[in-house]
Amino acid sequence: MPNSDHTHEGRRRLLRGALCASMCATMSAVLADTARAAGPEAAKLAPQPGDELCFASFEHDGRLVQPADLEPGAAPLLVYPRDPASGVIRERSRINQILLLRLMPDDAAAAGLDAAGEGVIAFSGICTHAACAVSEWNAELRHVVCPCHASEYDPAHKAKVVSGPAPRALPSLPVARRDDRYVITGPFSGAVGAPA
Ligand code: FES
Repeated sequence: MPNSDHTHEGRRRLLRGALCASMCATMSAVLADTARAAGPEAAKLAPQPGDELCFASFEHDGRLVQPADLEPGAAPLLVYPRDPASGVIRERSRINQILLLRLMPDDAAAAGLDAAGEGVIAFSGICTHAACAVSEWNAELRHVVCPCHASEYDPAHKAKVVSGPAPRALPSLPVARRDDRYVITGPFSGAVGAPA
């Protein structure tokens, strides 16, 4: 004969599971509705303060970037801003391509970064020469490289140009960690991309 305490506990667990599944489905539906309501324009907006950083929708299902994704000294991640209210990923404007990386501790200290930020920094991923995507990584020097005309930028020194024809550094984007997410806290430090 079943123990009635166990039966009740089992029922409570089942109910809790059902409740959680129902709430999760409701939350997803609400987010999808809100995203539809936000319209395609929201996906083209420039990064907004409060936006969260996530992968592109074609990579890791567009999930939010977490601290464990960022290894010190590793190649930058290509990320996009995501509206926290609607869940819209602002990936329909290429100037929203953002490079997110974690500096080596010595580089972060030399750059005068706040230790609370754990050396995580973000820059525009669009070259200041002719607006190609800065998509390559020099692992030996830990520089980001534009494949179009080989401009090279040093993230440990405010993404300044170290070689090639680019006329200026990649604009930086202020970000802060909030729990296990990264959030944009202000605008780019300068114009993104090539001069008009
Ligand atoms: S567009 Fe990047 S170096 Fe020319």
